[in-house]
Amino acid sequence: MKKILVKASKTYPVLIDTNLLGNCGNFIKEAVSPLPAKVALFCDDKVEPLYADTVENSLKASGFETYRFIFKNGEEQKHIGTITQMIEFLAQNDFTRKDLAVALGGGVTGDMTGFSAAIFKRGIRFVQIPTTLLAMVDSSVGGKTGCNLSVGKNLAGAFYQPELVLCDISCLETLDDKNFSCGIAEAIKTAVIQDAELFDLFKKKVTSKDTETLKEIIGRCVEIKAGVVAQDEKESGLRQILNFGHTIGHAIEKLSSYKTAHGEAVAIGMAVITKAFTKLGKVNSALYGDLISVLETNSLPVKHNYTKQELFSAALSDKKRSADSITVVYSPELGKAELLPLKLNEFESLIASSF
Ligand code: GLY
Repeated sequence: MKKILVKASKTYPVLIDTNLLGNCGNFIKEAVSPLPAKVALFCDDKVEPLYADTVENSLKASGFETYRFIFKNGEEQKHIGTITQMIEFLAQNDFTRKDLAVALGGGVTGDMTGFSAAIFKRGIRFVQIPTTLLAMVDSSVGGKTGCNLSVGKNLAGAFYQPELVLCDISCLETLDDKNFSCGIAEAIKTAVIQDAELFDLFKKKVTSKDTETLKEIIGRCVEIKAGVVAQDEKESGLRQILNFGHTIGHAIEKLSSYKTAHGEAVAIGMAVITKAFTKLGKVNSALYGDLISVLETNSLPVKHNYTKQELFSAALSDKKRSADSITVVYSPELGKAELLPLKLNEFESLIASSF
């Protein structure tokens, strides 16, 4: 088993291996101190039939009193109404600050459970059990929690770290191809900005059956993210590099009414921004071609059908925008990332140069 410590405002372990779910109660007992009495399991209706019983049985066998809250699957559910239901559920079942919430699922579940844990009674502890590759390589680690508002993605939220992250690679066996590729997109993002060797692993299509490769990919992505979060937990500088491809990606998600999944949108976002900076002569000549090739090899989209104006307007709701500027992330060469604050008119021209 791989064990990586995230040293943020709280230090916590990320455990990566196969067949962890059936023993999650014991892992929680080891990591969460003092022990909670009650545990609320949050998951969506797609994950519940697959894994909720296994997790709940393990929690019960470890002596916890368990409660289960299920919501509908999908990014459209990631709104404040669902958060209200989640915290009402905790209140109605008399949860106290000593108790625990568990997020079992993908990024939507992890972000919303973490946000509910952050605000319920000003903070109860929570554990992340990601079941998608995207959540394992990115969203379950580092304490970003929240939900979408009508104006844009993740506009409400809190930095709030979990007690433990359990990445059970066996869960990836039931992941559909689209969701698997979405996780690969975030892993490719991490490789482009920090790790040229990791990038090489994606030159051949990675599949959900490549258990050892996946263990290596998830481990490396978590190590890199832990290193970045340890230096800049609240994203005042360095952590913004993890948003490579995300400003345009979030705009595409919003323009598609969330029909384009997050990972697919990030793949397109990375392609758009790298093309634009290549045209400006700021990117190593091989990178754009290598990036497109690796994304396509892994069944990810690299193009969109929106206009310059649509993309620009939608990108303006990005959290990284201030009144008159926006910070853009690009990679000048494999394994490196730069942050560039741009005036909004410069950002508009940048988008135009990607067409
Ligand atoms: N997903 C980027 C971050 O956690 O900072």
